[in-house]
Amino acid sequence: MKIVVCIGSSCHLKGSRQIIESLQYLAEKNLIKDKIELSGTFCTGNCTEGVCVTLDEKPFSISPATVDAFFEREVLGAARG
Ligand code: FES
Repeated sequence: MKIVVCIGSSCHLKGSRQIIESLQYLAEKNLIKDKIELSGTFCTGNCTEGVCVTLDEKPFSISPATVDAFFEREVLGAARG
């Protein structure tokens, strides 16, 4: 599955770097690293809330505080099918 994290300036300030690191860590820890394609994008125009992340084109707004919950629910959920 494809996860794209916005690294535009607004999202960067909200912690996109930290989110990328957390996602990498969580993917490794849960042994699904080979199932995930993690990449970055510039501003997608969704700066209003948290960091803009898309999972297989589906947009989410997350923060360093909610990245764990996002991973559990969306990423692991999808990885398990
Ligand atoms: S900087 Fe991330 S959506 Fe604009």
